[in-house]
Amino acid sequence: GNRKCRSGNLILVGMMGSGKTTMGRTLAKHLGKTFVDSDEEIQKRTGVTIPHIFDIEGEAGFRQRETAVISDLVGGENMVLATGGGAVLAEQNRAVLQQNGIVIYLKANVHDLWLRTRHDRNRPLLQTGDPYAKLTDLFQQRDPLYREVADIVIQSGKQSVHSLMLQLVGEI
Ligand code: S3P
Repeated sequence: GNRKCRSGNLILVGMMGSGKTTMGRTLAKHLGKTFVDSDEEIQKRTGVTIPHIFDIEGEAGFRQRETAVISDLVGGENMVLATGGGAVLAEQNRAVLQQNGIVIYLKANVHDLWLRTRHDRNRPLLQTGDPYAKLTDLFQQRDPLYREVADIVIQSGKQSVHSLMLQLVGEI
């Protein structure tokens, strides 16, 4: 009965490298929903890349933009929304995400996250220091927040995106 279900929105949360974008696109295609990505929307609005925003405005500036974009995007319906890995840090985001769609936590272990992000230059938080240690740290801070907002937790491991999707569709 509430907007959470009625909206037809599925919202993906989880760490960088957990596969939110790939999974989101596949789910949207399979379910006939529109795929939306908060990082993409931030880049579209500003005309610059995420690393560029971090350079100029720092993480704090990026977080403000992220919160603004998320509050606009959640007004939509029948979409699959992929959020940036740090979206759940803000209490306001956790509240609006929970209220506006079924929230799916794509959970992956740190080793897999590291494998999937190690050649990536688009994630400013992993560009300094030891990325494995940083991912471990972020995971410890954020796992409780992802679990707090999630209606469904999907463990991504060796399975293909397609089989994860079928598992998920079975749970919605
Ligand atoms: C971030 C994750 C990134 C992006 C930014 C910060 C984070 O999104 O929003 O680099 O704090 O974990 P992805 O989860 O899509 O990589």
